Amino acid sequence: MNKFSRTMNSPATRRSVDEITGSRRLRRTRKADWSRRLVRENHLTVDDLIWPLFLMEGENRQEPLEAMPGVMRHTVDHAVRQAERAARLGIPAIATFPNIDPARRDETGSHSLDPDNLINRATRAIKEAVPEIGIITDVALDPFTSHGHDGILRDGEIVNDETVAQIAVAAVGQAAAGADIIAPSDMMDGRIGAIRDALDQNGFQNVAIMSYATKFASAFYGPYREAIGTGGLLKGDKKTYYIDPANSDEALREAEQDLLEGADMLIVKPGLPYLDIVHRLKDTFAVPTFAYQVSGEYAMIKAAAANGWIDGERAMMESLLAFKRAGCDGILTYFAPEMAELL
Ligand code: PBG
Repeated sequence: MNKFSRTMNSPATRRSVDEITGSRRLRRTRKADWSRRLVRENHLTVDDLIWPLFLMEGENRQEPLEAMPGVMRHTVDHAVRQAERAARLGIPAIATFPNIDPARRDETGSHSLDPDNLINRATRAIKEAVPEIGIITDVALDPFTSHGHDGILRDGEIVNDETVAQIAVAAVGQAAAGADIIAPSDMMDGRIGAIRDALDQNGFQNVAIMSYATKFASAFYGPYREAIGTGGLLKGDKKTYYIDPANSDEALREAEQDLLEGADMLIVKPGLPYLDIVHRLKDTFAVPTFAYQVSGEYAMIKAAAANGWIDGERAMMESLLAFKRAGCDGILTYFAPEMAELL
């Protein structure tokens, strides 16, 4: 209540004709579509969307993912066509995730360093065919390790510094293939600084870092792990490196650390259950902030819609708008093409 409304509306100075509401009717601006549009505070546009794409080996094929209706794994040539489609729809960027041949996975995820691995081949092919779209690549080791962890596993421990050294080299390989943004999702300590140094030393000053600064040890990653074939492999859990879902101050410290080390942008992951984190980060740091609406969030909406329990399209739009309201500059979402088509 400001001074104005107090003096104007206090019973001492003004007797209300409208006794029920005291003339304060917020429904006035909601009464018609034109009026609701006029006072709308947040908008979702196609510029807010980042589309995560799953890659697989082979040619001219795509495979549906059971727990993610409408989402496919694509061979590289197919992924190029998806990137073309994304560009046509006006989606600014895609983020690639590979399903690596099990024969190429090992204890240390060494295939992540191969300049010709699936991610890098896809990046080169997409950059050549669709140079106008942004390509975001992840350097976490989980698609490449035989145990499904994001780092090197030694004597039952995910070793931090050795993992950081390796992903910094992998990041340079991804930049050399044409990645525009390196997005490390592994949550090792010190990785942002190491990646920044490695990129700069190799002439990739213009390659940005979008840090998965606050990645939580979540149950919502299930369908993704099936998509990249780590579901059955994972031994134990990721609680020694992802953030405890109970913590919010710790998420702030993670983000601060990553920004000091050179992160250009931040990601909060998962999305909808962590909108409070988005809001705190945006309020505190005022840097480009993104959320990842992860596979389990997508699956929940799709499954409920398939059962006729919710209106899937409206739930999709409402969830994406909620990210904007919380302060997101953009959203990584499997709904990206569907949403872009509606927009
Ligand atoms: C791991 C990684 C995860 C996701 C992307 N990269 C989490 C995990 O498997 O632990 C999840 C994405 C999703 O669920 O949509 N670096």
